[in-house]
Amino acid sequence: MRFFIDTANINEIREANALGVLDGVTTNPSLVSKEGVSFHDRLREITEEVSGSVSAEVISEDAEGMIREGKELAAIAPNITVKVPMTLEGLKAVKAFSDLNIKTNVTLIFNANQALLAARAGATYVSPFLGRLDDIGHDGMELIQTISTIFDKHEIGTQIIAASIRHPLHVIDAAKRGAHIATLPYKVLGQLVKHPLTDQGIEKFLADWNKQN
Ligand code: E4P
Repeated sequence: MRFFIDTANINEIREANALGVLDGVTTNPSLVSKEGVSFHDRLREITEEVSGSVSAEVISEDAEGMIREGKELAAIAPNITVKVPMTLEGLKAVKAFSDLNIKTNVTLIFNANQALLAARAGATYVSPFLGRLDDIGHDGMELIQTISTIFDKHEIGTQIIAASIRHPLHVIDAAKRGAHIATLPYKVLGQLVKHPLTDQGIEKFLADWNKQN
C-alpha cells in the first residue's frame, strides 16, 4: 500500500514529504477553503514539493464545466490528477479526460457499482470514503473489500484509494482488504509512527546509556 496525504496545508505536506513515505496528495474543496489561499497558487506550491499524484477537485456540476476546469488544473503541472465527483456528469467528464490522457480520481464513492462505473469510464483512481460510511452505521471496510474483489476478478487496473480515513486501524484494514493507497489526514500519519512501547524503549535505552557515561 502507498500513502497519500489528505490536506491542502503546505506545511503538513512538506513535513510528510520529509519522512520519505509520501507518494501523493489529495485535496478537496473543503480542505482548500480552510487554507484561505488561491487554489491554483497552492496547487503550484504542492506540485513543486511532491512529484507523485496531486488530486485537485473540480467544482462544476456539468460535464462541460468539469472538463473546462479539469483542463486548466491539469495544465498547472504534469502530476495533477483531476478529482471528479461520482455523478452522471462526472462519468462523462472522466471519459473525456481519459481520452485526453488526463488522470482522474473519482471521489465520493459509497458503493461498488459507483466504483465499477468510474473504472469503466476510465478513472485512474476511485476513492471510497470509509469514515463517512462508518459514521452512518455502514461498513466502510467491507466496501473496500468488495471493490477490490470486483477489480481483481475483472482485471480492472483502476487503483483504489482508501479515503476518509479516521484512525490507524483503518489503514491496516484497508491494506489487508486490497486498497492500493491510503490517503491520510496529517494527524493519522503521525499516529501511525507512534507506539508507547517504542517511546518507553527509547527512554530506557537512554537512561541505561547515561548511567554508564
Ligand atoms: C479524499 O480524497 C477526501 O478528501 C477525504 O478523504 C474526505 O475525508 P473526510 O470524510 O474526513 O472529509
